[in-house]
Amino acid sequence: MFAFSPENQVRVAEHLKKYPSDRSQSALLPLLDLAQRQNGGWLSYEALEAVANVLHIPVLKVHEVASFYSMYHLEPVGTYHIQVCGTTPCWLRGAESVRDACKKHLGVGMKEVTGDGLFSLEEVECLGACVNAPVVQINDTYFENLDEKSVVALLKTCAKEGLPALSQKSSEQEEKSIKKASVKKTSTKKVKTDA
Ligand code: FES
Repeated sequence: MFAFSPENQVRVAEHLKKYPSDRSQSALLPLLDLAQRQNGGWLSYEALEAVANVLHIPVLKVHEVASFYSMYHLEPVGTYHIQVCGTTPCWLRGAESVRDACKKHLGVGMKEVTGDGLFSLEEVECLGACVNAPVVQINDTYFENLDEKSVVALLKTCAKEGLPALSQKSSEQEEKSIKKASVKKTSTKKVKTDA
């Protein structure tokens, strides 16, 4: 049985206020997200039904949307749900090795949950951070520029200490990219001035 908690009922009402009353189904995506977070990271049939009831739409329509996006899970997931990007830029930069290292370290296949319920694994399409490929998303956090060694170290950290806020490597890489971009911008300006 699933019902929105009192806190989430307030959030549901806030989302509904953002849309005209005859367009309330536009709140479908945020309501699915709320239901999923409340339901331990996945959407049971009852959770889909609760969303459908709020929006006065058929549960089938809610299911169609929830099954389309990889951000929604229709089966239980682990405490740490690992989404490995397998699209071309990540693939070219070693996504297969990252994925296989996760499988080997955790002893699970794709869409499976470890026996202790701590981890689940899934391969997804582009996560939109190709510049720092290969990329893995764990719950709401991105980890970038990974390889076999660093992804296993990351999984060990999750198991021991919980999810790190952001990998050190990603922050450093981001800083370098920003510096590079500003150097490029400065030199382009100089060429224009000389001309
Ligand atoms: S291809 Fe992996 S983030 Fe875009």
